[in-house]
Amino acid sequence: MSKCLITGASGGLGQALYAHFAPRYATSGLCYHNHTADFLRLDLTQPGALTELVQDLRPELIINTVAWTDVDACDQQLAKALALNVHTALHVRQAAEQVGARVVHISTNDVFDGLQGLYSEADTPRPVNFYSWSKYMAEQMFYGYAPSLILRVHFLAWYASGKQSFAHWLCQQLRRQQTVTLVQDQFNSPVYAGTVAHWLESMLELTGVWHLGSGRYSRYACGVRLAEKMGLNTDLIKPGYLHDLRFKAPRPYDVSLDCQKVRQACGLETHLDAELDALVAAAEIAD
Ligand SMILES: NC(=O)c1ccc[n+]([C@@H]2O[C@H](COP(=O)([O-])OP(=O)(O)OC[C@H]3O[C@@H](n4cnc5c(N)ncnc54)[C@H](OP(=O)(O)O)[C@@H]3O)[C@@H](O)[C@H]2O)c1
Repeated sequence: MSKCLITGASGGLGQALYAHFAPRYATSGLCYHNHTADFLRLDLTQPGALTELVQDLRPELIINTVAWTDVDACDQQLAKALALNVHTALHVRQAAEQVGARVVHISTNDVFDGLQGLYSEADTPRPVNFYSWSKYMAEQMFYGYAPSLILRVHFLAWYASGKQSFAHWLCQQLRRQQTVTLVQDQFNSPVYAGTVAHWLESMLELTGVWHLGSGRYSRYACGVRLAEKMGLNTDLIKPGYLHDLRFKAPRPYDVSLDCQKVRQACGLETHLDAELDALVAAAEIAD
């Protein structure tokens, strides 16, 4: 594999993937609104646009990260959510099929209903909001396409420009001596975006659905641990409950992931401390 195309390269995860893959492979990155000189600008909701580009570039691998991740807005604007989360995935599948490219499609642990926790790849998704439904539908665009890998992941990143990351927002609030409430009853399996990129490189021959994660941690536990590592005042972080935040769209409670499959097949295993150390190192370079 030598030629790689990353969609959503201007996004939170896309930036980490591009940083990892560009020095190693002939890598092209796509963006849309946040155009920079590094990336080609393409509206992936438009049928045919990607097919034409892929015919020219002939990538052997396409990593698809494009999504509209605003959960509340997706519940209000269904057509836009379908276009950005599902139609874009369909267009990636069609373009890949034309040139026989492998696809890595980035999905989410939010496809599960959150009633059980520690979900394995054998568990059946039951999305609780339209963002999650659209992500589950997007996965299905690749079910019949053999050379494709669907990665369900919840990542941590540090990006101070464009969309603000959770980590950057938290540290900014604490530095301003602002009190923040983080939920103690919602659980994820966060992995640093750079780790996702690094691990993905060793998974490129795999197909089907795979979970990547670090364990089972609440947003509160994750925030307190990050603040400690950043030398910030953890007394400003108050534990809260998902119900009290009154989001417009329902949220799943426990969408932590069982990652035995990737541990056994590839030896990939991590824990929150290691992921937060990597995040803090990235933050120190960025600031
Ligand atoms: N954020 C999380 O915590 C999280 C958790 C689990 C899974 N995921 C999944 O991980 C993936 C990446 O998430 P993220 O947080 O990195 O998303 P993000 O920062 O919002 O990035 C989305 C990307 O999609 C691109 N895009 C949007 N509209 C487009 C269009 N019409 N045509 C072409 N590209 C378009 C954006 O480009 P421009 O900005 O240039 O417009 C951007 O590069 C998604 O599939 C998401 O569902 C995210």
